[in-house]
Amino acid sequence: MTETLAPAHTVDLLSKFDPIIQTREALLAAGVEDPFNLVMDQVLSPTRAICNGRDTILLGTYNYMGMTFDPDVIEAGKRAMEEFGAGTTGSRVLNGTFRDHRDVETALREFYGMDHAMVFSTGYQANLGIISTLAGKGDYIILDIDSHASIWDGCAMGNAEVVPFKHNDVEALEKRLKRIPEGAGKLVVLEGVYSMMGDVAPLKEMVRVSKENGAMVLVDEAHSMGFIGEHGRGVAEEQGVMDDVDFIIGTFSKSVGTVGGFCVSNHPKFEVMRLVCRPYVFTAALPPAVMASSATSIRKLMHGGNKRAHLWENSRTLHKGLRDLGFKLGTETPQSAIIAVIMPDLERGAMMWEALLKEGLYVNLARPPATPAGMTLLRCSLCAEHTAEQVQTILGMFERAGKAIAII
Ligand SMILES: Cc1ncc(COP(=O)(O)O)c(C=O)c1O
Repeated sequence: MTETLAPAHTVDLLSKFDPIIQTREALLAAGVEDPFNLVMDQVLSPTRAICNGRDTILLGTYNYMGMTFDPDVIEAGKRAMEEFGAGTTGSRVLNGTFRDHRDVETALREFYGMDHAMVFSTGYQANLGIISTLAGKGDYIILDIDSHASIWDGCAMGNAEVVPFKHNDVEALEKRLKRIPEGAGKLVVLEGVYSMMGDVAPLKEMVRVSKENGAMVLVDEAHSMGFIGEHGRGVAEEQGVMDDVDFIIGTFSKSVGTVGGFCVSNHPKFEVMRLVCRPYVFTAALPPAVMASSATSIRKLMHGGNKRAHLWENSRTLHKGLRDLGFKLGTETPQSAIIAVIMPDLERGAMMWEALLKEGLYVNLARPPATPAGMTLLRCSLCAEHTAEQVQTILGMFERAGKAIAII
C-alpha cells in the first residue's frame, strides 16, 4: 500500500504569473487567434510559409539575408550529417569539437578580420557566457537600458555592478562612466541595431567616450551582421570603430540562417575564455550539420553585396509606404531591416496582428517586457529575398487591416 503524504501548506510558485495568465485568457476570450502559438505547417521559401493552414508572406523572421534555403548551405549540412552523425553529445572542451566547429570559427575570423572566434550553442548563451565571465563581482557593466534580455541575464549571472543608461544617449553613458571608481574594471555593452525599434546606436561616439574613460567595449551585432557595413560586419564597421571594439557578439539565428552564437575578438588572451566560460563549457556543442551550414553561409555572406543592396531597397520602400499610409513607426528613417509599427495598445495590436494574418501576412507581435516604454509593436523584419512585388502586396495588406481595425 502506498502511504499518502501528510497535507501541508504549499506556496504555489506559479501563482506569481496569474496576471499574465489572466491577460492572455482575456485576449483569447475576445476571439483573437493566439499570437504566441503560431505553427508553420510548411515552409515554402525564406519569405513564404503555410501558417495555421494559410499561405502566408513572412515578415517576422530574422532571416534577413534569406540563407535558410540557400542550396549550398543545405548541401553542406546534409553532407556533414552523413559524415559526422546527428549530434555531438558533448561539450566543446571534451568530445564536442568536430572539424566543422573549427571551420566555422575560421570562417568567422575571416568574416570579421579578427584573431579569435568562439562559437556558442546560441547567441543568448554567447552573451550570457562572455558578459558574466568578463565582468564579475567588483567590476562594472555600463549598458543601454534597452539591451536584449540575454545581455541583462549575463550581467546578473556575473554579479557585476550594473549601471544602465538612457537608450542611445552618449552624454548619459559618459556621465555614468565618470562616476565609476577609479581602478575598477569597466565593460560597456552596446548593440549595433536595437531589435525592438530597429534603430542604430551612435557607436562612434559611444566607443570614443568608453575608451576615453578606460572601459572595454562589447557590441552585440545580432541584427546587423550580414547586412550593415561594407562587408556586412555590422554597425561598428559602418561607423569605422571595428579596431576599438574589444568584443563582438553575434548569432547564427538571423542573417546566417541557422542557429548558434559567437564572440570574436583581437584580445591576445581571448582563448582562455574557452576554459573559464561556463555557458561554453557546461553544455553540448552544436550538431556538425549546423556548423557546416553556418560556415558555408558565413562565407557566402562575405560576397552578399547585391543582396544587401536589395534588402536596403526593401527596407526603404516598406518604411516609406507604411508612413504614407499613416502608421506610426519606431524610427523616422529606415535604419535597418526591422521596421516597428507602433500600436495604440495590446488589444488593438493583437487585433491588427490577426487581421494581417488573415490577409496572409505574418509579423511579430511584440509587447513588454521585450519592448521599451510599455509599447505594443508589430515588428516587420525584411528579407533580401522579398521581391519588390511582395513589398507592394504587404503594403496593401497593411492598408486593408489598418482601416478595418481603425488604426489608420
Ligand atoms: C540583440 C540580440 N542578442 C542576442 C540574441 C540571441 O540570439 P539567439 O537567438 O542566437 O539566442 C538576440 C535574439 O533575438 C538578440 O536580439
